[in-house]
Amino acid sequence: MVEIAPFIEKLPKVELHLHIEGSLEPELMFSLAQRNKIKLPFKSVEEVRKAYDFSNLQDFLDIYYQGMGVLQTEQDFYDLTWAYLEKCAAQNVIHTEIFFDPQGHTGRGIKFETVLNGITRALDDGKKKFGISSGLIMCFLRHLSEEAAFKTLEQAIPYKSRIIGVGLDSSEKGHPPSKFARVFAKARTEGFLIVAHAGEEGPPEYVWEALDVLKVNRIDHGNRSLEDTALVARLVKEGMALTVCPLSNLKLCVVRDMRNHPLKKMLELGLKATVNSDDPAYFGGYMNDNYKAVAKALNLEKSHLLTLARNSVEASFLTDAEKSVLLQKVNAYGRS
Ligand code: ADE
Ligand code: ZN
Repeated sequence: MVEIAPFIEKLPKVELHLHIEGSLEPELMFSLAQRNKIKLPFKSVEEVRKAYDFSNLQDFLDIYYQGMGVLQTEQDFYDLTWAYLEKCAAQNVIHTEIFFDPQGHTGRGIKFETVLNGITRALDDGKKKFGISSGLIMCFLRHLSEEAAFKTLEQAIPYKSRIIGVGLDSSEKGHPPSKFARVFAKARTEGFLIVAHAGEEGPPEYVWEALDVLKVNRIDHGNRSLEDTALVARLVKEGMALTVCPLSNLKLCVVRDMRNHPLKKMLELGLKATVNSDDPAYFGGYMNDNYKAVAKALNLEKSHLLTLARNSVEASFLTDAEKSVLLQKVNAYGRS
């Protein structure tokens, strides 16, 4: 670990699975609550952190939706996104494709445009100030109805040029991808790229549905794919990327111990696995923390880390020309 940590820190990294609302640190939560005159059910930052003790995905989601209530104005969304980009700059993340959950905001009276404008203004500044490129992916909350998702898609269509893809998140069990088959069909005809959380807590069948019904370009998480050998063969054959989130998996009890994390096995099976931070403010760390935790627990070598970094570039929604620039950066680092 003595030498792997600095290797990870300087490795040029790409993030493909990050919920911007999940990067809301307790300190910013308190300062936005004060700015917007909102009363929080916590007395201190320490008390908030203590509450981040989850047994499953739903435990986390309950507190995550409550936390995002402090986000009210365009400037709030800007500040949230900017704080995340500062972490990226500090951790050598050179490209990031981030999720946002518009229904978590429009459902409490915040305008879609307020959310979108704040996030995209920060992303534009991130490119100018840090040279970090980015993409924005709009997620539908799967515990809500198909009709609500359709409404959200309609709101997004005028802003198509600023949103590269659509995804599916929130409570997985009981809400299969097929529930949103028609919404995703429409999103595809509008030109959005497609991702979906599948196989985090839900069964391998949900991953099949994400592939066959939603026609995804990437699978978010996908851990439970390993229970189905035919599914693994399909994912390998198609070079379908999995956006794996090690610290999230540990905090949400998808894995009981990091030493049992399936990441190394995924690589050995030929799956295009990537490392990501999911909701870093809630799960105990950003990109470097995720890489380090899993590298330490699974004794990953530099070659594994370079493969993970290359996988993320290849699985990104950048153009081939842009990918080749980033791949050269990773390869040059590997040779240095
Ligand atoms: N929303 C934010 N983080 C999520 C996760 N890990 N799974 C499903 N929905 C989410
Ligand atoms: Zn996620």
